[in-house]
Amino acid sequence: MGNGIAHVFAQHGYSVNLIDINPASLEKAVATITKNLDRQVSKGILTEEGKAQTLANLSTVTDMKQGVSNAELVVEAATENIDLKLRIFKDLDEAAPANCILASNTSSISITRIGAATKRPDKVIGMHFMNPVPVMKLVEVIRGYSTTDEVTKLVFDLSKSLEKVPVEVNDYPGFVANRILMPMINEAIYTLYEGVAGVEEIDTVMKLGMGHPMGPLRLADFIGLDVCLAILRVMHDGFGNPKYAPCPLLVNMVTAGKLGDKSGEGFYLLNKETKELSVSSTFKK
Ligand SMILES: NC(=O)c1ccc[n+]([C@@H]2O[C@H](COP(=O)([O-])OP(=O)(O)OC[C@H]3O[C@@H](n4cnc5c(N)ncnc54)[C@H](O)[C@@H]3O)[C@@H](O)[C@H]2O)c1
Repeated sequence: MGNGIAHVFAQHGYSVNLIDINPASLEKAVATITKNLDRQVSKGILTEEGKAQTLANLSTVTDMKQGVSNAELVVEAATENIDLKLRIFKDLDEAAPANCILASNTSSISITRIGAATKRPDKVIGMHFMNPVPVMKLVEVIRGYSTTDEVTKLVFDLSKSLEKVPVEVNDYPGFVANRILMPMINEAIYTLYEGVAGVEEIDTVMKLGMGHPMGPLRLADFIGLDVCLAILRVMHDGFGNPKYAPCPLLVNMVTAGKLGDKSGEGFYLLNKETKELSVSSTFKK
């Protein structure tokens, strides 16, 4: 997600420091951004000059303090882990200029809780981009308990300058996107688990019957089954409502390391070279 967010900011003229503790991730990120820019050029969305300018706006940094020392906005997109994010925001609060807005791309962690780890909760906000970032129009803008109107407006205007469509939501578990999406994915997994229908049948019903571009099981593989499970757990804990309890099949698959596309197998098998998909042998009839 970090490379996609850096891509859209750099493409729209912002000077971007892309920060990661892992230098290999930074190399991979620049390769991905270059490949995605090439695709935009070949589709006529971007000129060669625009591509060169985008890459010129982008620097990579491994030292977080150095990377944010002059920042007006930080968009954090590190691994979805609450302890890690709380630590990162405490460090960001110390390293970034006092007027810098600190945003998180978290899918599920409370913005209010992240804000409370800093001395500037009024300037902490959620900027939840969708995957793939250069393509998807939505930014879910999440206001924490203390986020001000002024900061929200700035982030709204900024999102529009990236040619995105911002939507304001309040800080409750799952926000809006995942609050509605994850129960649907969980129900699709229950439908498979209970033997109502097979993987392709469930996805075909939702694609052809409901006009979804991707079936829910395919989408779960794309998002990552570990990510889906983590978000369902946040909603289950946050609301205390059993309707968010993750399906035991999802729990088992994550325990077995079947995480979807990132591990090569979930409900589908993904051939990493040819990108071909087939139903996982576990679910073949
Ligand atoms: N994957 C999605 O579809 C998606 C969609 C929307 C939002 N998100 C959110 O975006 C965030 C990132 O998701 P992802 O799928 O890109 O995760 P990822 O695990 O693929 O990437 C996270 C990156 O963070 C780096 N990192 C870890 N600790 C760090 C630290 N202390 N300082 C700097 N970098 C650090 C890792 O090296 C890694 O490169 C999460 O909060 C996730 O919930 C993900």
